Amino acid sequence: MIKYIPNQANLMVMKKTILIIAFICSLWSCSDDDNEAYIPGPMALEVEQPSNFPEIKYALEANTPTDAGFELGKKLFYEGNLSSSGIISCGFCHEQASAFTHHGHTISHGENGLEGFRNTQPIQNLAFFDEFTWDGAAIHLDLQPIIPITAEVEMNETIPSVLEKLENLPEYPQLFEKAFGTTEINSERMLKALSQFMVMMVSANSKYDKVMRQEEGEPFTSLEQTGLTLFKSKCASCHATDLFSDQSYRNNGIPYNPKHIEEKGRQRVSGYESDFYKFRVPSLRNIEMTFPYMHDGRFGTLEAVLNFYSDGMVENGGEVDEQLKKADGSLGIHLNTNEKEAIIAFLKTLTDNEFLNDKRFAEF
Ligand code: HEC
Ligand code: HEC
Repeated sequence: MIKYIPNQANLMVMKKTILIIAFICSLWSCSDDDNEAYIPGPMALEVEQPSNFPEIKYALEANTPTDAGFELGKKLFYEGNLSSSGIISCGFCHEQASAFTHHGHTISHGENGLEGFRNTQPIQNLAFFDEFTWDGAAIHLDLQPIIPITAEVEMNETIPSVLEKLENLPEYPQLFEKAFGTTEINSERMLKALSQFMVMMVSANSKYDKVMRQEEGEPFTSLEQTGLTLFKSKCASCHATDLFSDQSYRNNGIPYNPKHIEEKGRQRVSGYESDFYKFRVPSLRNIEMTFPYMHDGRFGTLEAVLNFYSDGMVENGGEVDEQLKKADGSLGIHLNTNEKEAIIAFLKTLTDNEFLNDKRFAEF
């Protein structure tokens, strides 16, 4: 357990004190016992809270990220041994250049090339969410990784077997000790370390953010500005706040996909028929990089997404969101070609190249 987490300033003072004590000891030839060097505990890291974001939801007080916990979490995230073959790491499906989605895959595949039935979600700004996956099956970030590790179509492993493998790899006991004080490797520590890595992944430095926070940089073009205005009136009721998700589950009238009969959306979790084909409203951050789109990756481009919103919406067997009904009762959002172009230009201002290239989160 982490008993005391020194901050940077304390640590500097402590380092100086240690140096002074060491110096005095060398003069007075202290016994070996007195001379034991102080090993500082892990240093706390701060999760960025951008001024334009909603509040952090992750309970940081129960699992405060530290430098050592973060490094362990990162190593685990890129660790093939979390899967049965030793090859499929979290990073295999969650690639940084694509905002941690599975580049070019409609449905991601894992062990033995087996496919699931959903498109990989980005990993970004998860500290601001309290339910995870497309249908909200994971109600805490610390629990989420159990799903991919144990799913046959993802990593096809068991938690005890992963822990045993980690115990037998030379570097891990030491890394767990650095992060948690002793060499013990258990599931709670493994999951907490993964969360410490993931909650630090904040994407809030796109052109959009800089314009909103009135920071230095390029202003919006008139096309982007028009796009923002249209977005606010036609999309932001669901893709709300600067996370671009109100975190609710909604049916957006996407046609039923007969290829994946197991897909029921939120109904899989709640059991309610009224939740059929409802999905957690996805954040649109870095959307330019996270194609293909929707829960099953059916649309390859943003143009296709907007054509769906204007002309492709259908009754899909569930309760399509009331907001998507026009005055005459038909489904869809009014959008002409120019409006679509402007919205896409705006959506591209959400690309955060600092995040996509941030070395802290990179495998190498
Ligand atoms: C085989 C590909 C694959 C692997 C391997 C994989 N994931 Fe995922 N990940 C997905 C898919 C697909 C989803 C969407 C799941 C769903 O909705 O049911 C997802 C969703 C998530 C989410 C939810 C994001 C959100 O916005 O709610 C998190 C967090 C996550 N994965 C973390 C991990 C971690 C940590 C690992 C490693 C232990 C991992 N994933 C391994 C494909 C993968
Ligand atoms: C009634 C709520 C609602 C409104 C209004 C809405 N969306 Fe969505 N949007 C959703 C939901 C729910 C999904 C996920 C559906 C799925 O995966 O099947 C989604 C998915 C998307 C995606 C794919 C995201 C991804 O990660 O794959 C994009 C892009 C998108 N919406 C853009 C827009 C734009 C642009 C508008 C306005 C023209 C808009 N949305 C209006 C609820 C809404």
